[in-house]
Amino acid sequence: MGKVLIVANLKSYKDENEAKNWLESFKKVQEIDLNLVEKEVIICPSFTQLFSFLSFFSNNNIKVGLGAQNVSPFDEGPCTGEVNAKQIKDFARYVLIGHSERRTSFNETEDLLVKKVKISLQYGLTPIFLVQDQEDIIPQGVKIIAYEPILAIGSGHPDTPENADAVAAQIKAKNPDSQVLYGGSVTADNIKSFTSKANIDGVVVGGASLEAEELLKIIQNA
Ligand code: PGA
Repeated sequence: MGKVLIVANLKSYKDENEAKNWLESFKKVQEIDLNLVEKEVIICPSFTQLFSFLSFFSNNNIKVGLGAQNVSPFDEGPCTGEVNAKQIKDFARYVLIGHSERRTSFNETEDLLVKKVKISLQYGLTPIFLVQDQEDIIPQGVKIIAYEPILAIGSGHPDTPENADAVAAQIKAKNPDSQVLYGGSVTADNIKSFTSKANIDGVVVGGASLEAEELLKIIQNA
């Protein structure tokens, strides 16, 4: 069995000062035995925070990965307002693609998501591809898939571990070499019920990761 993957999606939260406080609290990671031999943690802050998170983690020798929350479907070029994979790769190794908030609020289509995956892979970024159910199309080359039922996101009503495990099994059957995560109202109290399931390789944590202490508890309990 591989490491349990814990992806913290900080969404569109935290200004510079709040991010600094979050990082100072997260530093306790060095004092607590989180068993990072068996767990892998990936933090996904906003683009504006990637540099400070990277510097902080490397200055403090904190062994967690960094991910971006979005990527341009295009390569570098005349694309005002976009942050592209070539730029992201200097800061992060992972990128979230296909989150339901982006599919819904930004009209991201399957075609666009395929382009985002393709350009990310081209620059050596690892996509963490989020789907709402087992029917969503998984673009070629994706190796980390997160099942996030839309009603469970930010609602305090997670899927049942049994159903999440069954969906993860179906996703794995179609994508044999991939890791499958569960996301949607994961907390320190319920994480183990998901990570103890045979087909669930880890979790994506949104709201509960906004407090660093809570995220540390989640990592500890995973
Ligand atoms: P949530 O969000 O943990 O707040 O439900 C998960 C996500 O949106 O990735």
